[in-house]
Amino acid sequence: MKKLKLILLTSLILFGISCKKLNTNNNKLETKVDSILAIMTLDEKIGQLNLVAGNMDQTGPTTNKEYEKDIKDGRVGAILNVYGVEQVRKLQELAVKNTRLRIPLLFGYDVIHGFKTIFPIPLAEACSWDIELIEKTARLSAEEACAAGLNWTFSPMVDIARDPRWGRVAEGSGEDCYLASLIAKARVIGYQGEKLNDPLTMAACVKHFAAYGAPIGGRDYNTVDMSDRMLRETYLPPYKTAVDAGVATVMSSFNELDGVPSSGNKYLLTQILRNEWGFKGFVVSDWTAINEMVNHGYAASEKKAGELALNAGLDMDMQGAVYFNYLKKSLDEGKISEKQLNESVRRILKLKYNLGLFANPYLYLDNKREKEITYSKRHLDHALLSAKESIVLLKNTDYKGRKLLPLSKSVKKIALIGPLADNKKDMLGTWNAQGDENKVTTILAGLKSKYPESIIEYTKGSDFNGKDKVGFNSAITLALKSDIVICTIGENIDQSGEAASRSEIGLPGVQQELMEELVKTGKPIIAIVMAGRPLTIEWLSKNVNAILFAGHLGTRAGDAIADVLSGDYNPSGKLVMTFPRSIGQVPIFYSTKNTGRPFDAKNSYTSKYLDISNDPLFPFGFGLSYTSFEYSNLKLSKQSIQNSESLTVTFTLKNTGKYDGEEVAQLYIRDLVGSVTRPVKELKGFKKVFLKSGEQKELSFSITENDLKFYDANMKFLAEPGKFKVFVGSNSVELLEADFELL
Ligand code: GLC
Repeated sequence: MKKLKLILLTSLILFGISCKKLNTNNNKLETKVDSILAIMTLDEKIGQLNLVAGNMDQTGPTTNKEYEKDIKDGRVGAILNVYGVEQVRKLQELAVKNTRLRIPLLFGYDVIHGFKTIFPIPLAEACSWDIELIEKTARLSAEEACAAGLNWTFSPMVDIARDPRWGRVAEGSGEDCYLASLIAKARVIGYQGEKLNDPLTMAACVKHFAAYGAPIGGRDYNTVDMSDRMLRETYLPPYKTAVDAGVATVMSSFNELDGVPSSGNKYLLTQILRNEWGFKGFVVSDWTAINEMVNHGYAASEKKAGELALNAGLDMDMQGAVYFNYLKKSLDEGKISEKQLNESVRRILKLKYNLGLFANPYLYLDNKREKEITYSKRHLDHALLSAKESIVLLKNTDYKGRKLLPLSKSVKKIALIGPLADNKKDMLGTWNAQGDENKVTTILAGLKSKYPESIIEYTKGSDFNGKDKVGFNSAITLALKSDIVICTIGENIDQSGEAASRSEIGLPGVQQELMEELVKTGKPIIAIVMAGRPLTIEWLSKNVNAILFAGHLGTRAGDAIADVLSGDYNPSGKLVMTFPRSIGQVPIFYSTKNTGRPFDAKNSYTSKYLDISNDPLFPFGFGLSYTSFEYSNLKLSKQSIQNSESLTVTFTLKNTGKYDGEEVAQLYIRDLVGSVTRPVKELKGFKKVFLKSGEQKELSFSITENDLKFYDANMKFLAEPGKFKVFVGSNSVELLEADFELL
């Protein structure tokens, strides 16, 4: 007993010391910032709110005149799109050696899925459902970026998206807020690490706040209009998870929400972000998003836009120079207060302090470290693993008595056809930072590393755009003389990402016609579909023998594809966005409402299309394996729960096939009746499990009242007593189910 008391006393003392230490550090930080604020001129304060774009990369519609003079005059707080130890050092020295207060600069960049070593685009990597892997990708991305002198990334992008016409679905984690929230947290932790003042960790920036992923018509930058309930239940959770994970900064989005542009939206930037969520970092606008409030018709002038933005809680102006040009006058006119200005400056100075830049402005600048870390084996090995886990097997039918995939060892002649086969640049995908296409393993090179060169023959067949079919004949000729045809089709790097919405989401150019000609040869066909979004590939799904969806997989794309085709890796990916049969079904997603007239084939007065099924081509959570998995013995620990009780859901998962493999077992619930209608399914858990052939495991999930909460009729976030269903299975459609009640 005495020992226990001693342990308790010691831990209380240690806890007290650490709190005191934390408070001391905080007080030290506040004192430091107060001391700088007290001597800053108005120009110097406004300078800290000014984020200026360098010209080493162009990621927005405007470029800059030279800004070195502004830096020397202390009128720039941060730079984006400048990287590399030498280039960063040059500008940091300008700021630190020439300005009166020697305040260091932040250096930001879009490190979205890697800096030099490029990992799969986020939409693809999310298909791994491997949270640990995703966190490590962010960690390794930060290492390479920090080694190049950067200390701030405009990532993670966490915009929920249910409309594949929108090109930026490529940068996000799909349609589900539960999965996207876990991924958002993993990326923030990956980028920011344990301590921000570690030279290999960087400030993250969760974007684009908020609901940028729901533009009308799927057209980028278009209006977003939704209920507060939809906003809070579906679109806000990933941002909140990032804030709870300690994300250092938030980026306001281009879109208006309910009539108010995000960059001037006090409900978003102050009420929700700060008052409800307690966010302490700073908010940066997206590229000239403050200026664009004039286009929105929300501000009569840029000066007015600046006042609306600062009053809404926007701290830093990306590339718009609105704060730079007008805040002094707005202050003189009393349109903004010095207190507000000081608050914004304080938030920015605190991040610089926490990054260790006051202690050492050159902390991130080490040429030797840059060389050692860039393209390290750790980076390239992880890029391969991430690429493999990102691949989704959508179809794999029998051919001559066996599944077509993995490729038979006895295959004699492989035709490799399509614009993505011998292609380095497009493997990198959108937002590929400083990825070097010359480092990319193409699919052709990957296959040649696995199979004798003599059995592989390649022809491009078609391009991504236009009507030119000149490559068809050689493609058909090659197919006819081969045992098997592997087609690499889909989108190039420019057909998804920012400002890249598509009104039709089929195979671009004449690729569909190429596939039709190749199917006519009667040869077995494997389609490897690579794109920054789901594509409408229903014809393909009916007419080829096997389909892999592979997003854009990054530097190790070809090695990953070859490992999967050869069977050296058994694909385990699961879709994170629904694949529609037709663009006419969009928006289409799994977590839909039942409606008053759910589809009933026997009754025409029910919710349906005359010309197509309501069902998606491939549902959320779908992905096959070379083996097969069986779910059985679904059992609940009790028939009802109340208050703080938890319900244990157990089931047996068996690998019934002949390959070892990984399965993502998914848990969904349905609240049958609520004070507002509830979705027919909501993802509430998943486990990625490795099972050897023939092996089985009993797995379990736990459900508590917290998992059942939603915004009720009065917008209170709570769970309502009533009947529920629980589902467990391999995707959002093929599920075992059971009933329980919340008392
Ligand atoms: C772009 C994007 C944003 C990016 C920023 C800086 O317009 O919308 O995601 O972080 O500008 O490149």
